Amino acid sequence: MHCTRKLTDSIHWVGGSDRRLALFENLFPIPRGVAYNSYLILDEKTALIDTVDSSITRQFLENLFHALNGRDLDYLVVNHMEPDHCANIEELMIRYPALKVVGNAKTLAYIRQFYDMDLEGRTLTVVENDTISLGCHTLRFYFAPMIHWPEVMMTYEESEKILFSADAFGSFGALNGNLFNDEVDFDRDWLADARRYYSNIVGKYGPQVQTALKKLSGLEIQMVCPLHGPVWRSNLDYLLDKYAHWSSYEPEEHTVALFYGSMYGDTENAVNILAASLAESGVKNIMTYDISSTHVSTLIAEAFRCSHLVLAAPTYNNGIYPAMLNLLHDMKALNLQNRTFALIENGSWAPSSAKQMKALLGEMKNMQVLEPVVTIKSAVKEDSLSALTELKEQILASLSDSH
Ligand code: FEO
Repeated sequence: MHCTRKLTDSIHWVGGSDRRLALFENLFPIPRGVAYNSYLILDEKTALIDTVDSSITRQFLENLFHALNGRDLDYLVVNHMEPDHCANIEELMIRYPALKVVGNAKTLAYIRQFYDMDLEGRTLTVVENDTISLGCHTLRFYFAPMIHWPEVMMTYEESEKILFSADAFGSFGALNGNLFNDEVDFDRDWLADARRYYSNIVGKYGPQVQTALKKLSGLEIQMVCPLHGPVWRSNLDYLLDKYAHWSSYEPEEHTVALFYGSMYGDTENAVNILAASLAESGVKNIMTYDISSTHVSTLIAEAFRCSHLVLAAPTYNNGIYPAMLNLLHDMKALNLQNRTFALIENGSWAPSSAKQMKALLGEMKNMQVLEPVVTIKSAVKEDSLSALTELKEQILASLSDSH
């Protein structure tokens, strides 16, 4: 049975959610599931903006069939060719023989790479700023390469001022019946997953996001319709402010997140001492994470949120504890910049992880490392305790400078 929502009198949400998938891209845990949004515009001509993942094809087709109410489908706009949105192109081409697939040159090349379907006479290639009139509605295409693939474009519907933004402004999380941002408590229930989605999926491409934000800044926008998560129809400044911070790699909050790896609890003890000491000195909203039991995508999201990051790791096989090495590689891959770090290393006979962590941070942009680096030999003793106290003072001074 169909399950749709109306965005406006002539635009319908015909997507769906998947709560069974454990790992998005077979990589990122999604305990709250994920939504695949698809939008149908009904006018003299009909146009569908993107399809959905194969996992929810049945629901999607029922939704689309219902919303079309017996009409034909004229256009399928493919804003993004990642299979979580385009698994149903061929099925739609078979069901609607007059359907034209709308995309740019790269989109159409990727369709051919992914699928063996006969596109002869069935495509409409667009370039930046091209328009398609549906009757009262006009679609205008803005290219947004690398948000999150090279072919990505956004579609702006001029009469109702609606931006179909592809992956941009999306979030992990299944929809719970509520579709619009003003129907949910976004800060409480969605922000952490929206940040984790952005930082891990699009985080590397901050400059390209900035370019797209500039390109769109002249548009009057009433509604933002992403391919995942809630649709935005109010408080767009809030959303744009988040994207401005994330895409410029500026922290959202001046506070401290502590990330530790600990084999027997001694490195954890040092981190707990430092965190409590920072709290005693008035630092609020500190977050502490065991990196062995917290998925790296959550750590990355917190690194995007917080200004000051404490990294504490044992030395392992003369290198950095593997979970910390993985986190640092991910930070670098995702282009994280402009953070202040404090380092704690542990080693019973040859501690060297701090030096190696510092070297990796040196390969990233504008990463400041505070002194002193704290060295623990097996367990915290008086000398390392006084170093932790000195490090706390330096973190406090740096936090107050950054405000
Ligand atoms: Fe939701 Fe990049 O696909």
